[in-house]
Amino acid sequence: MGYISNEVAEEILQRIDIVQLISEYVLLKKQGKNYFGLCPFHQEDTPSFSVAPDKQIFYCFGCNVGGNAYKFLMLKEGLSYPEAVRLLGHRVGINIPESSGSYDSDKQKKEKRLYKILEAAANFFHQYLLYHKGETARNYLNKRGISEQQIKTFQLGYAPAGWNNLIEFLTSKGCNLGELEKLGLVIKNRQGTGYYDRFRNRIILPICDAAGRIVGFGGRALDNSNPKYLNTPETHLFNKRHLLYGLHLARKAIRESGYALVMEGYMDVIAAHQFGISNAVASLGTALTREQVKLLKRYTNEIVISYDADAAGVNAALRGLDIIQHMGCRVKVLQVPQGKDPDEYLRVNGAAKFKKLIKSAYGLIDYKLYAATQKGIPATAPEKIAVLQQVLPNLAAIKEPVEQEESIKRVASVLNVSWETVVSELKRYLNQSKNNVNKGNKWRNGDNFVKKSYNINLTNARYRAEYLLLGLILTDFELFSIVKKQITAEHFENIELKNIYSLLLDSEEATVNEPAKLVQKMDEKCQQVFCRLLNEKMPAENKENIIKDCINIIIKQAGKKQQEDLLRQLKEAERSGDQDRVKKLLQELQQLHHKINTGLP
Ligand code: UTP
Ligand code: MN
Repeated sequence: MGYISNEVAEEILQRIDIVQLISEYVLLKKQGKNYFGLCPFHQEDTPSFSVAPDKQIFYCFGCNVGGNAYKFLMLKEGLSYPEAVRLLGHRVGINIPESSGSYDSDKQKKEKRLYKILEAAANFFHQYLLYHKGETARNYLNKRGISEQQIKTFQLGYAPAGWNNLIEFLTSKGCNLGELEKLGLVIKNRQGTGYYDRFRNRIILPICDAAGRIVGFGGRALDNSNPKYLNTPETHLFNKRHLLYGLHLARKAIRESGYALVMEGYMDVIAAHQFGISNAVASLGTALTREQVKLLKRYTNEIVISYDADAAGVNAALRGLDIIQHMGCRVKVLQVPQGKDPDEYLRVNGAAKFKKLIKSAYGLIDYKLYAATQKGIPATAPEKIAVLQQVLPNLAAIKEPVEQEESIKRVASVLNVSWETVVSELKRYLNQSKNNVNKGNKWRNGDNFVKKSYNINLTNARYRAEYLLLGLILTDFELFSIVKKQITAEHFENIELKNIYSLLLDSEEATVNEPAKLVQKMDEKCQQVFCRLLNEKMPAENKENIIKDCINIIIKQAGKKQQEDLLRQLKEAERSGDQDRVKKLLQELQQLHHKINTGLP
């Protein structure tokens, strides 16, 4: 990809009107300062998608995506950043050549070369399947009902039998064996004298990252030989835990449908896409990892698991559930009738029936109940308690009271216990975990996670003050110069707000007034918070006083934290009998005390 300078990208941004751009996709209505419409990135009935014309930033209060015009196009059209810049550049008459002089570092060059090699390998396999002696392989795919279109879309290929077909091809193109080994394409022979192809006589399924770059391969045997699938080993570029098969093809549909369908295998995803269910991805035979959920969260907050109907599938689904809920996503589990995987089911029953299964997918609690009662309804008290223990954390995590009550009712009815029993167990569980939070054991992580998650908890006073302060600064930069004198980045507790504030401090005044440029410099999390702030309705009057209040709260709270810190150190110093240190800490405490009470920074 050609190098695009920041200046050019910013110049283009300046000439583009985001309202006009987004209007081509979304019906926008002016409401106050901002425009509102139905979010194009998730399903909704009431508009929560906002565009701020003065900031040139969009944000959806429903699914938390936000950004500038580039970001919008990247998400909506599935473009990479340079592609989005190029496209908008074209509109305003700034043409960026495909590869305008490369300024890559050596490391980037090497990495690019590795991607190129993988692409060449995929091409080799693909051509082999289509045009060379790939007939057996073509027949195999044919027999499984995989269409020509899917062979192209998923760039399926065939690795011929023989020990060095790929080696010969790639070395003739100038690749060296060391590189090929690093990519997991070849294996050193036992004597250590040479290499042979890893993939032989297998159907090849290239595996891409979210951007669509090939990072590895799966290879399916054409018969019953073992292993059924041979995959690229863990390499610098290939880490199964961080990948979802088919994501680059599914991301658009995931956004548009409002949920992601997660399956177990390659073949399930290929079948789903063939049947027009394009929001399907596969976790490649493992339970869903935290990293994979993170990937999906870029596009949606709802995940429907559709694993195989066997015991392994049920177990994998169960293991994924809590992770998904903890990460702030809604989750459902779809159950294909016994003995089938989605691939088989789709090919026998078609898309309409499968969509019905999606509609009737179990909610989290119901699925746990379903799985727990598969071997029979629990009859004895210990059996009931065991099931109850499994669902209590999930019951506790449900935020909407009505939904929670509904779930409690269902648990009670399935276990044939009274509603009150479930409620009292839930209360006990909640108390217990509250104590655990205070004790600072493993529940701490869950608690932190909630705070950090996208559903920002606005009930926390310090957070609210930090949020409001930053939001007001962004509406009026006169205020920034007041705040700057008293508040440093270190005063902020919330990490995203802290990062945003310190970026503001580091930026030149002119840039601070142009959030659409600033947003480019932030990571995903900060972008979301920043765009939310910019689209939020902030108080229009009495701003100076509100700012003063916020500053006071922040300074006080930061001081209290510092105080606690010093007290802890003091205790330690006293315990170890370090009198000098005790004295010094006492002094510091006194100064701090004074500072907090006078409200001085
Ligand atoms: P499955 O055995 O369910 O595979 O394993 P599948 O996708 O249904 O394949 P077909 O229909 O029999 O061809 C699910 C996933 O687990 C991984 C693969 O990613 C596979 O798609 N797997 C399975 C392996 O990596 N290696 C194996 O030997 C088996
Ligand atoms: Mn299968």
